[in-house]
Amino acid sequence: MTRALETAMVAEAYGRWAPIYDLVFGPVFRRGRSAAIDAADRVGGRILEVGVGTGLSLEGYARSNTLFGVDISGPMLSKARQRVARLRLDHVEGLAIMDAERLTFPDNSFNVVVAQYVVTAVPHPEKALDEFLRVLKPDGEIVITSRIGAEAGMRRTLEKWLMPMTSRLGWRTEFPWGRYERWAAELPSVRLLERRPIPPFGHFSLIRFTKRPTGSGPNKAAAAEAIH
Ligand SMILES: C[S@@+](CC[C@H](N)C(=O)[O-])C[C@H]1O[C@@H](n2cnc3c(N)ncnc32)[C@H](O)[C@@H]1O
Repeated sequence: MTRALETAMVAEAYGRWAPIYDLVFGPVFRRGRSAAIDAADRVGGRILEVGVGTGLSLEGYARSNTLFGVDISGPMLSKARQRVARLRLDHVEGLAIMDAERLTFPDNSFNVVVAQYVVTAVPHPEKALDEFLRVLKPDGEIVITSRIGAEAGMRRTLEKWLMPMTSRLGWRTEFPWGRYERWAAELPSVRLLERRPIPPFGHFSLIRFTKRPTGSGPNKAAAAEAIH
């Protein structure tokens, strides 16, 4: 049986990770982080990083951009605050405790929304994706790095079996690509730009969506093109 993720449980789990997070997850996600930063910098402007954690990425963004970081975990954010002060990251406009599923920003606030290794940590990922889209300006980009779960077979069975353990650690192992596809297909304003595997282990991907201005046509053909 799969154990559901709950926001409070996830926040608590990352509170426990905070003191050792950089040591454990700093190097392992480095290549994904730098791919996401490059993608966000290419668009530029005002960037929201959801699930900013200890702020490991903040230093990497071009200083010509402005960054806002949000996270559900106080202890993770407090590490990010220390980093911003220590490294004098003046391009960081703000850091705030906020739930990815309930962002408090007005519609069309950011040129880019970045979510690195976060989508699989929220209880209702599609609700978070809806929020990313809402706060994104038209023609802006959602840049996600995430683990993609298997659709079927042994790996899928193993991922389901691991869920009770990984939910206690703060993330889910099962999250097949089909969930992104179904989310995007329902929304005429969403267009998939890219899905590219990134290290480590070959199970992680960089995913980019854009928000088309209202009045654009159907998106399904474009999405299929971007995947293949
Ligand atoms: C695996 S860590 C990734 C941190 C950072 N993005 C990185 O690349 O190192 C997941 C982060 O997402 C945050 N998080 C989990 N659920 C969240 C939610 N519902 N809203 C906002 N942040 C959330 C966690 O507190 C944690 O800092």
